[in-house]
Amino acid sequence: MRAIAVNEWGGRDKLELMELDPPPLAPDGVLLRVKAAALNPVDVGIREGRMANAFPHHFPVILGWDAAGVVEAVGAAVTWFKPGDRAYGYCRRHELEYGTFADFTTVPEGYLAHMPEDLTFEQAAALPLAGLTAHQGLEIVGLRGGEYLFVTGGAGGVGHMVVQLGVARGARVAATASPANHAFLRELGAEPFDYHDPDLLERWREWTGGAGADAAFDAYGGESQEQAFSVMRKGGRLVSIRTPPEPRAGVETRYEFVRPSGYDLGEHITPLIAEGGLAPHIQQTWPLEAAAEAMEVLEGGHVRGKLVLTL
Ligand SMILES: NC(=O)c1ccc[n+]([C@@H]2O[C@H](COP(=O)([O-])OP(=O)(O)OC[C@H]3O[C@@H](n4cnc5c(N)ncnc54)[C@H](OP(=O)(O)O)[C@@H]3O)[C@@H](O)[C@H]2O)c1
Repeated sequence: MRAIAVNEWGGRDKLELMELDPPPLAPDGVLLRVKAAALNPVDVGIREGRMANAFPHHFPVILGWDAAGVVEAVGAAVTWFKPGDRAYGYCRRHELEYGTFADFTTVPEGYLAHMPEDLTFEQAAALPLAGLTAHQGLEIVGLRGGEYLFVTGGAGGVGHMVVQLGVARGARVAATASPANHAFLRELGAEPFDYHDPDLLERWREWTGGAGADAAFDAYGGESQEQAFSVMRKGGRLVSIRTPPEPRAGVETRYEFVRPSGYDLGEHITPLIAEGGLAPHIQQTWPLEAAAEAMEVLEGGHVRGKLVLTL
């Protein structure tokens, strides 16, 4: 099978289009013929070796954690999927070796969900990692209807899904982005804030009539996390996916590391898509062979929505 893999950690020049054997299939595993695979910033981290202390690895390491495709074969114990089914999932395994930037990948069946009917493979591939991160983070802060939610990095892969899931929960959502993305955020239902605005807190107070945020989802970290803390009310809840937040008086803080879950995808993401409450925005797609070009755009740091490879 074709695969985008590395034999050593490093820059984009380490990416190679290789011909490799398909991964082995466990009794509870699904072999997926990958049709589309989304990029995520973690793919850059893996390529550079920044995840090598967190996960055992075996070279060549095939990159990619998101996939949508068609079930090619199932292990003897699998009951939810059969060959020919269209499935999608966040495919992070416990070891770095078999990623999704390849013609085939295998994962435990519990990682996958049946694809929403009206989605293309590209759209489905854009959803799992970012959508699950958004959903699980909003569960962590327990976002409820009527609450004020502040989102940092609101136009990115995760952020634009947090905004939509927050709106779907009936929250009043504000999100930071550069001015070029403010119309995009408005379309998604969020009040846009410029992360470079020195008067951001004042603008926030004007917008809410003086109320603080009940919850914050920090997808950017650093100075953005400080901006999130600055708008919180006493007793607010803040989750970050970027930097574990230091404890602060009066704010409940948590760090999230997203878990693969076919259940969450099938129960919380798929139905929202059918209802029209969630739609992935895809900035650009490339064929598998152009993975290095796609990664260069990702590393630019200003992606709107998602980038996707097609196979
Ligand atoms: N812990 C976890 O489980 C988990 C899961 C997923 C992702 N992550 C991490 O979370 C981060 C976001 O992931 P992602 O997939 O959303 O990344 P992404 O799609 O690459 O995010 C790009 C977005 O960042 C925004 N941005 C750039 N500079 C900014 C600034 N100074 N302040 C606020 N926003 C800024 C950009 O908006 P403009 O173009 O408008 O500037 C762009 O829309 C990454 O670091 C990723 O590794 C962690």
